[in-house]
Amino acid sequence: MPDTSSTLRLTCDDAEATRRVGAAIGRWAEPGTTVLLQGDLGAGKTVVAQGVGRGLELPTVVNSPTFVLVNEHLGGRLPMRHADLYRLDDLDLIAELGLDQAAEGGILLVEWPERGQGALPADHLLVRISPLTEEVSEDQLDASPRELVLTASGRHAQALLTNLASSLSAVPA
Ligand SMILES: Nc1ncnc2c1ncn2[C@@H]1O[C@H](COP(=O)(O)OP(=O)(O)OP(=O)(O)O)[C@@H](O)[C@H]1O
Ligand SMILES: [Mg+2]
Repeated sequence: MPDTSSTLRLTCDDAEATRRVGAAIGRWAEPGTTVLLQGDLGAGKTVVAQGVGRGLELPTVVNSPTFVLVNEHLGGRLPMRHADLYRLDDLDLIAELGLDQAAEGGILLVEWPERGQGALPADHLLVRISPLTEEVSEDQLDASPRELVLTASGRHAQALLTNLASSLSAVPA
């Protein structure tokens, strides 16, 4: 099988740096873009989503959609749908959300995508977020470095990743 995936690694020293990566995604996204946000509790998935909202120039605040499952944000350059699958462990229920079609005409962001395997678009940009330090002191809550690993699957996501790589300072993997 040809290798259609590729990877970009970024270090983000604080929440604002992570938000800026999201903003670049929001600026470059074409209709039909899916971004899967993977990482432990508190890793920074929603921070990336807030940045995407900024890049799309959304007029609304982007918060965690934990209780509504999917938030729709309109009024930006593209409609943005933001799903959080943390509380869902029933794959049938996840399939009923229709997330495989939810990127149509806009951008779909999914937190905890590992819960929805098989029910999400195959063409997607996977953003894996992990802390680079063990301990976080109280006064560093907004500034503990994260590694973001962006992996494109499919032609659509690959085109996005190529644009991101040229606009963000990056160390190619
Ligand atoms: N480098 C960094 N990048 C992103 N967030 C950071 C960074 N340093 C500190 N933070 C803080 O970490 C927290 C990340 O919270 P966020 O809600 O985005 O996590 P999450 O991955 O969405 O968690 P959940 O699984 O609960 O939805 C924020 O309080 C943010 O300020
Ligand atoms: Mg979140």
